[in-house]
Amino acid sequence: MSQIQIPGSSGYALMSDKSLEFYKDPMHFCNSRIHSYGSRIFQARLLNKPTLFVCSVKGMKELLCEKVNVFDTSYTTSMCKLFGDTVCFTNDLICPPCQTGEEAQLLRLSLMQLFRGKMLDSYADYINRVCARNLKDFSLSSEPVAVYTMFKRLATELMLGIFLNADAEESAALSKQITQLSTQHWHGLISAPVKVKVSVWSSAFTQALEAKEKLLNIINERLQSEEDGLISKIKNVPFPENTNATQHLLLFISALIPKALASLLTSFTVELAGTDKINIRKRAQENEDYLNHVLLEVERLWPSFIGGRRIAKQDTTLCGYMVPKGYLALFVAFAVHRDPEIFDNPDEFQPERWSGRNAGQEKLLCCFGNGSRNCIGIDLNNVILKTAAGYLLNHYSWDLDPPNQSLHYKWLPVSRPAEDPKIKFTCSSKT
Ligand code: HEM
Repeated sequence: MSQIQIPGSSGYALMSDKSLEFYKDPMHFCNSRIHSYGSRIFQARLLNKPTLFVCSVKGMKELLCEKVNVFDTSYTTSMCKLFGDTVCFTNDLICPPCQTGEEAQLLRLSLMQLFRGKMLDSYADYINRVCARNLKDFSLSSEPVAVYTMFKRLATELMLGIFLNADAEESAALSKQITQLSTQHWHGLISAPVKVKVSVWSSAFTQALEAKEKLLNIINERLQSEEDGLISKIKNVPFPENTNATQHLLLFISALIPKALASLLTSFTVELAGTDKINIRKRAQENEDYLNHVLLEVERLWPSFIGGRRIAKQDTTLCGYMVPKGYLALFVAFAVHRDPEIFDNPDEFQPERWSGRNAGQEKLLCCFGNGSRNCIGIDLNNVILKTAAGYLLNHYSWDLDPPNQSLHYKWLPVSRPAEDPKIKFTCSSKT
């Protein structure tokens, strides 16, 4: 094994913890260290644990693909408590051909059937309808639209309709109740990861656990009453004893997913706003391949999530650096996606790169994870993103209103301009 030490220092407990600095501005945190260490792999202490930061494509591929059997997924305790037993938290025996935990892999295969092929086609009409319902008539109002809030509402409606058969118009009260509970559940996830005493009833975490119980009850009722759609099919998934359909539906309807979709749709809209982007919008409207490349470029520059966490099960190496057993590893999506070894002019929005130097290299991105533990909702996400983006391109021109808004991005809990961008949509000449 190579003996090269990882650049940087994990220091000693608490005193050297860099969590605050990281959470305040993750991009600056990573870029300044990449610059001073001259390495896209470095270490620091995060959440009081020695952590390896992986900011190169090569490192991300080694972590998530070649060494998937050496690094387990490692979510925070609060996340496990709030979501319960789901595929995300399953790590177990290694299955040699697919190089990942057998139990997790079987569960993934079963769940993925719900998001592929004919099942996916069966959601297409619903996705079209909900997009049209939420995105129509923008040009009738003189007011600009706060796009992140609007896309979050759209994505929440989609998730509740697809996963629980709870349509925002037909079951308005239920839909509202679930949305409020999901928000309360979410606030527990983003509250500081502290130990919660039973006596501290007012804490966001305790309230989130209460919301979780209420959501589980609603989901169970829907599971018993609904005979169509995904919710009826998920009952046939052969879940292992310790995990079940209810818990997975809780994960799928959580606020996490609408926020991630809204993040990408907001970045798409902002990136293509303005009269100077008229040709890009026209080309994306007329050419599906080009629209795919535009969306890839949005995912590359503005991935919704910071990345994902792993833990080393044994002493190992990554990109030649020594990684001791028990070290955490964080792949940082925005930094991986701006690796200049792979992406020329990495900070520039250039959809053309996907038909040029980076043609066929979509698998070097990690907006939806990578390797055998990547996102099982990728195909569903793509249908939703393309339908919503396609609707906007077919019906509108758009621009920032007012023109000089701050578009400074925040990265946590999902990436987006810190102030919700206001966009004025006008009917495009074709419609
Ligand atoms: C824009 C929307 C979404 C984004 C950006 C996203 C992103 C991700 C990422 C980055 C991972 C990998 C995490 C890691 O490696 O630690 C992941 C895993 C996962 N995603 Fe998504 N996701 C999205 C939507 C969805 C949807 C709609 C579903 C529901 C079907 C879903 C279900 C999952 C599951 C179950 C996993 C865990 C897979 C495993 O551990 O084997 N995601 N997602």
